[in-house]
Amino acid sequence: MIRVENLKKTLTGTEVLRDVSLRVEKGEFLALIGGSGSGKSVLLKHIAGLMQPDSGRIWIDDEDLGSLRGRKLEMIRRRYGFVFQSGALFDSMTVYDNLAFPLREKTKLSESEIKEKIVRELEQVELHGVESKYPAQLSGGMVKRTALARALIMDPEIIFFDEPTTGLDPIIADAMLKLFGRCQQRLNLTGIIVSHRIPQIFSIAQKVAMLHEGAIVSAPCENGTIQTDNRILKQFVEGAIEGPVRYE
Ligand SMILES: Nc1ncnc2c1ncn2[C@@H]1O[C@H](COP(=O)(O)OP(=O)(O)O)[C@@H](O)[C@H]1O
Ligand SMILES: [Mg+2]
Repeated sequence: MIRVENLKKTLTGTEVLRDVSLRVEKGEFLALIGGSGSGKSVLLKHIAGLMQPDSGRIWIDDEDLGSLRGRKLEMIRRRYGFVFQSGALFDSMTVYDNLAFPLREKTKLSESEIKEKIVRELEQVELHGVESKYPAQLSGGMVKRTALARALIMDPEIIFFDEPTTGLDPIIADAMLKLFGRCQQRLNLTGIIVSHRIPQIFSIAQKVAMLHEGAIVSAPCENGTIQTDNRILKQFVEGAIEGPVRYE
């Protein structure tokens, strides 16, 4: 479970997070939406423990993230998996070595156990016959599948996606979103996904949180749509120019 309470963060004189509170239950997938520059990545970095807030708290289950240092913080981070926009694969390594890398660095698994795990993970993301390929030889969708496999390889409990389908064509992007949703469900992961794919993102999330003027407006998702009367959220989701929010 992720619980964010009254988070505040000012960056270079701008109050990016003014008062952010949200909650993601275990096994729940939260879609984080909001305009460009609204602070979505900054919020994710706080939850990931990569940025410190000016005030407010973040709880991962019953651990107060801000009070953890060194090994204890590292233990929490080990429960995380990340999929970023770029894929963040090592270009000079094959798919196999990209996946083996964290296992070789952080576990005592033998090479045959590593191999078994990689085969299983590639099946999970529905990727076949690419072990010896380099990232540059893969299609955009395959890069994302590999990035997902790498995020899952350390058996995380919590997974973060930051605009994971940017740069893909709409059809592949939506196929990827569905794959992320299937993996999250199958593995009962707690997840946060930042995405501009509206309304498609509502089909895989159980809850949506919109970051707007440094605070959160949230609503549940049901059957691929969001349930809300909030005018700001409605306007954003419908992509309407007219409404309480002014876009320049
Ligand atoms: N490390 C940083 N130092 C200073 N300002 C930052 C930093 N990271 C992000 N910002 C600023 O914070 C705001 C929110 O950024 P970001 O979270 O990346 O937005 P987005 O919602 O598009 O992900 C932006 O104005 C950005 O310029
Ligand atoms: Mg961002």
